[in-house]
Amino acid sequence: MCASTVMTAGSNNPNQMFITFEGPEGSGKTTQIQALFGYLIDQGYDVVLTREPGGTTIGDQIRQILLDPENQEMLPEAEILLFSASRAQLVGQLARPALERGAIVICDRFADSSLAYQGYGHGLDLEPLRAITRFATGGVKPDLTVYLDIEVEDGLRRKRAAGQEDTGAWNRLDQKAVAFHNRARKGYLALAEAEPERWLIVNAARPREVIQQDIRERVDALLSREA
Ligand code: TYD
Repeated sequence: MCASTVMTAGSNNPNQMFITFEGPEGSGKTTQIQALFGYLIDQGYDVVLTREPGGTTIGDQIRQILLDPENQEMLPEAEILLFSASRAQLVGQLARPALERGAIVICDRFADSSLAYQGYGHGLDLEPLRAITRFATGGVKPDLTVYLDIEVEDGLRRKRAAGQEDTGAWNRLDQKAVAFHNRARKGYLALAEAEPERWLIVNAARPREVIQQDIRERVDALLSREA
């Protein structure tokens, strides 16, 4: 998506809120994030839209290393440290300052991706991953995590149908086996089950407007609670 650069707008300084989106390949994450961003901007909120890995100049350089299809020999341990380095930079340089001024920060993927992909997907122990994440984020955690749930095969099919394999958007991590993505999906569902108050699981196989409606309802509820 186009969120490697920060988009920010609005001046209605509400209540800080950190919203993250997670979901497997082809779940329609980008579409839903952009729709939510527009919805909040239209109401005059100060909204910062960003993504992981990336979101800062340094993070974008780390992103290139992580996603480069040439880097086949990359170890999961190196992956988690690189994702975490990008995350530390994003939180320190962008997310924390934005939250401190009362903005809504929307992030396309965050620490739950590391638990799902490097943890459940690659089989790294979750405890050290959580410790590394705490170190990288300084304890900044999402208020809401939206998980766009779709069967792995359906998501991959959608992504292929969208022609992303030909346009270079098919990165090193997308190329991993279906079994890897299935483990990551199971991981997401386990993470959501353990912390239901933070997660909104939406069935991403439905029409995009219906999915967006579910997301807006939850965000509206959180905003009115904070107001
Ligand atoms: P990206 O092109 O941004 O994919 P998507 O549109 O699916 O978000 O690529 C990011 C890839 O990195 C994606 O396959 C998920 C993976 N990832 C991890 O494995 N661990 C992480 O901590 C993060 C943030 C992403």
